[in-house]
Amino acid sequence: MKDKIEQIRSDSASEIEHSAELQQLDEIRVKYLGRKGLLTDMMRDLPSLPKDQRPLIGRELNSLKGTLGKLIDDKKEQLLRVEEDKRLKAEAVDVTMPGHAYDLGKAHIVTRTLNEIIGILVSMGFSVEYGPEVESDYYNFEALNFPPEHPARDMQDTFYISDKLLLRTHTSPTQIRVMENTRPPVRVIMPGKCFRNEAIDTSHHVMFTQIEGLYVDRGVTFADLKATLESFLRRYFGSDTKLRFRPSFFPFTEPSAEVDISCFLCGGGGCRACKQKGWVELLGAGMVDPEVFKSVGYDSEKHTGFAWGMGIERIVMMKYGIDDIRLFFENDLRFLKQF
Ligand code: FA5
Repeated sequence: MKDKIEQIRSDSASEIEHSAELQQLDEIRVKYLGRKGLLTDMMRDLPSLPKDQRPLIGRELNSLKGTLGKLIDDKKEQLLRVEEDKRLKAEAVDVTMPGHAYDLGKAHIVTRTLNEIIGILVSMGFSVEYGPEVESDYYNFEALNFPPEHPARDMQDTFYISDKLLLRTHTSPTQIRVMENTRPPVRVIMPGKCFRNEAIDTSHHVMFTQIEGLYVDRGVTFADLKATLESFLRRYFGSDTKLRFRPSFFPFTEPSAEVDISCFLCGGGGCRACKQKGWVELLGAGMVDPEVFKSVGYDSEKHTGFAWGMGIERIVMMKYGIDDIRLFFENDLRFLKQF
């Protein structure tokens, strides 16, 4: 019996020493200390030994059990440490590796210009309203006093979704939507995308951006229109900017005007940007036509108002010397990153 104990002592110690994985170590524990393990069997056989040997062998078995338990625990700790080291090594971050550079995005130059203009007009007391880009024929044309078959519609040919639905050609339909839902006084600006069925060239695109303004109250006159546009345009283009009003026609304003400003690049002396004219065409404007007031239920005997609409892309083009409107929409980062 004693020999057997010694044999187990040396076998188990060597097996534990050489075990390389936790599972292997657990199998060793079961083999010697488990319910049907070798040591457990020997304990169970103790009563069959001669009486005088029992205490000695019992003590030996108990001491071996304790030694084995400790060896297994120590080895387990060692294996866990090795495993942890391996895991940490695999997860290690090499802080000296070069990182991935991500380009920071920023707003498109047309959006930035539009936001700058909105900022000025908001500070002058206008609030901002948005209208749908897919509009009805009624809002885009009819309520703005373009009757069906009116030749003025030809200047704004567009893309039709159906007989009565189209992509809006200007931001003016939002005027109607705002007036339908508000009583005067009205002081709003309405920015957004517009679409026209145009032959695309360096200054015309099928999609562009406008900002519309509308002011309706008692006693609003053409002088208010001039003063408002003058102070807004001087704040954006510079305090020396001069304005020029030329008679024009829009079905929804009467009288109507095209507004030019003195070229903000050459100051009016003549340069490439203004084609040596000294003036730059900027926007359409006028006093709201009484027919428009009729379509939104305003009393034109009590209220008068003015409106204007201007394109944003052409302003950006002049300001930065860009000679082709298509560059804005081609998404060439070499172009966009310049601004
Ligand atoms: C209008 O669209 C009127 N709704 C403006 C208006 C509003 C007048 C309120 C009176 C009262 P017009 O068609 O001229 O007007 O367009 C205004 C501006 O939009 C132009 O000066 C131009 O800057 C821009 N624009 C028009 N068509 C294009 C196009 N195809 N590509 C780029 N910009 C365009």
